[in-house]
Amino acid sequence: MSSCTIVILGVTGDLTRRKLIPAIYHLFVSGKLENFALVGAAIDDTTPEAVADGARQFLGSVDEESWEKFQEHIYYQQLDFLEPGDFVKLAGLVEQVEQERSLSGSRLIYLAASPDYFCAITHGIAATGIAQRRATGEAPWHRIVYEKPFGHDLASAHEINDCIADQFHEAQVYRIDHYLTKELVSNIALIRFTNIVFEPLWNRDYIDQVQIVLSEQVCIEGRGAYYDAYGALRDVVQNHMLELLALTAMESPEKLTARFIQEERAKVLRRTHAVDGILGQYNSYRDEKGVPADSDTETFALLRLEIDNPRWEGVPFYLRTGKCLEGTQSSINIRFKATDCLLARNCPVESNWLTIRVAPDAAFVLSLNAKKVGQTEELSPIAMEFCHSCTYGPLTPEAYEILLEEVIKGERTATVRFDEIEHAWQIVDQFRDMNLPVHFYARESEGPEEAISFAQKHKIRWRS
Ligand code: BG6
Repeated sequence: MSSCTIVILGVTGDLTRRKLIPAIYHLFVSGKLENFALVGAAIDDTTPEAVADGARQFLGSVDEESWEKFQEHIYYQQLDFLEPGDFVKLAGLVEQVEQERSLSGSRLIYLAASPDYFCAITHGIAATGIAQRRATGEAPWHRIVYEKPFGHDLASAHEINDCIADQFHEAQVYRIDHYLTKELVSNIALIRFTNIVFEPLWNRDYIDQVQIVLSEQVCIEGRGAYYDAYGALRDVVQNHMLELLALTAMESPEKLTARFIQEERAKVLRRTHAVDGILGQYNSYRDEKGVPADSDTETFALLRLEIDNPRWEGVPFYLRTGKCLEGTQSSINIRFKATDCLLARNCPVESNWLTIRVAPDAAFVLSLNAKKVGQTEELSPIAMEFCHSCTYGPLTPEAYEILLEEVIKGERTATVRFDEIEHAWQIVDQFRDMNLPVHFYARESEGPEEAISFAQKHKIRWRS
């Protein structure tokens, strides 16, 4: 890949520690990133060594020699996002490092910060030339990555977008969603539109319901201040989960490229609306650091949505997500309608399911009914399964690794268009306007008890 400078605003935060530095390290070790510098900035009074140390535990196995070499590429500038003078210092450091290392001047500027600061940072990097307005194809390139969530509601998303449009060309702007680079997620459109067996059945005549699940065993892990201001609806529903819905429900794109897929995702999100839901909060959430004692922020959501178009009219899409639950699972479960029973007895009790499993393991599973062994008319469910790691081994790159590599190459698979973000905020704002009650649930449970009555009311049959 071409030589570049990676500037991370918010380099001491959780995202950088857990995901970005490990991803950059792996790109370095695999030889994909050689001639580069990582210039980090944040409010803390710290050092490049401490920044690297903070990420070390999230790297998996580390080759000591490579790690030593990798650390030499890291620089640090203390910076207050609201202090224009600090951006001048950062610009000085970036230029100095680029000269010392004979870098190309191409820059990837990553905003790993709260969206509350996106406007201030955008002004800071534009005013000091850290990121300059550049047309497509102009070298060296300057690309700016905005982490999700993009704003905290529709109005703030518009404000941020206006700030960005004042300073940069749209082609330089990457509003990203790392979920889109997960192996099975980036596979959804390909599987749907390159296999004739699915598409004829992919509609309201044959599909009974769609379930999109993002359950996590981890709680909020020291992110109290951020999480309490956002909650499950803004943290994962507005972005990862609605993108999964859009990929599952979209019409066939003209071509299977990022641009045409974005277009179809946006169309389906525009026609999606909130129907009903319940929210939850795990029991000890209010004791977490950074969380107010009377917080009613949701850490669990179970939502029903519908899509107003001829393909999906009347088909419920359920989204279920939560922190501190009994297990970690991320999947899309599609339940097909039941067949007429042609057997004299022992009619099938279960209809077909297609499961697209994103985490913890990547897999596609189609469940069918088949005869039990022997001379019998009895059925038993069987599974046709494509297990990703069984076929390709465990070495699939992590989502952020793919994402950074793509931005450096100027590709856009992980990028979300602004109208997708707008529609997604409209949907989330519809749920927020419902003032849904927040029910408590026990840690390591399946969520609040009320989720059971919600499931009964809506005739949800969960994929086990
Ligand atoms: C992030 C959310 O965007 O996605 C986290 O902020 C969530 O709360 C995470 O845990 C899930 O993604 P992954 O890749 O860690 O499964």
